[in-house]
Amino acid sequence: MVELVIKDLVAGYGNVSVLHKVSLNIADGETVALLGTNGNGKSTLMWCIAGLIKPTSGSITLRDGDTEIDLTACTPKQIVQHGVSLVPEGRRLFPLLTVEDNLVLGAYRKEARAKREESLDTCFSIFPRLAERRKQQAGSMSGGEQQMLAVARALMSNPKLLLIDEPSVGLAPILVSQMIEKIGELPASQGVTILMAEQNFNQAIKIADRGYIIVHGEIAFASKDAADLRDNDMVKTYYLGV
Ligand SMILES: Nc1ncnc2c1ncn2[C@@H]1O[C@H](COP(=O)(O)OP(=O)(O)O)[C@@H](O)[C@H]1O
Ligand SMILES: [Mg+2]
Repeated sequence: MVELVIKDLVAGYGNVSVLHKVSLNIADGETVALLGTNGNGKSTLMWCIAGLIKPTSGSITLRDGDTEIDLTACTPKQIVQHGVSLVPEGRRLFPLLTVEDNLVLGAYRKEARAKREESLDTCFSIFPRLAERRKQQAGSMSGGEQQMLAVARALMSNPKLLLIDEPSVGLAPILVSQMIEKIGELPASQGVTILMAEQNFNQAIKIADRGYIIVHGEIAFASKDAADLRDNDMVKTYYLGV
């Protein structure tokens, strides 16, 4: 049972503040979409959760069963050890390494190392294409295959909470649908909870249980459920330009 609670988060770069008192929560098993167009702070929020940026103020708390972990006090490595894994925007693979080596590098967490073979099998069963290409250099694969690899690499650390930053970026529409569909299957098949940043509103709402819309670093709209998000014309027109 994991739960993420973010309260009044303020963060930025140097003295430029990007996130202004962002509050958001994710319950166990949910797929929550973080929607917003370019430059509104989606990646900044993902990086804060993953420990890559230290917020100026506010809190990020991971509840795991009866324990409460203050993620702002953890290093990125400790955050992975606590079961939070980021699929970064733009994949960030090791292009010269093989598919398999990229995956193995995702299993650096101690408990994950012990289950490496099992996790490899799981990743290959989720993404059979990666099994076919296991000896191929990551950088020589198509964008869609690279995105599969980025998601699979994050799964290699046996995460409880998966942060996926713009999985649709740079992919042809048909591949976007396939990717989103795969992501939509992960909570049931892998028991993960998901926070997914997307600017592709129509794709994201296919799998999201709920969503938040972030505009200029502020949560402009928090939906109660998927229908609430889908049916909100004001949101679509003004915030997302759909
Ligand atoms: N490394 C950085 N240094 C300074 N400003 C940054 C950096 N990364 C992002 N920003 C700024 O922070 C704001 C939010 O960016 P980002 O979180 O990447 O938004 P999104 O992921 O929604 O596109 C933008 O104005 C962007 O220019
Ligand atoms: Mg981004």
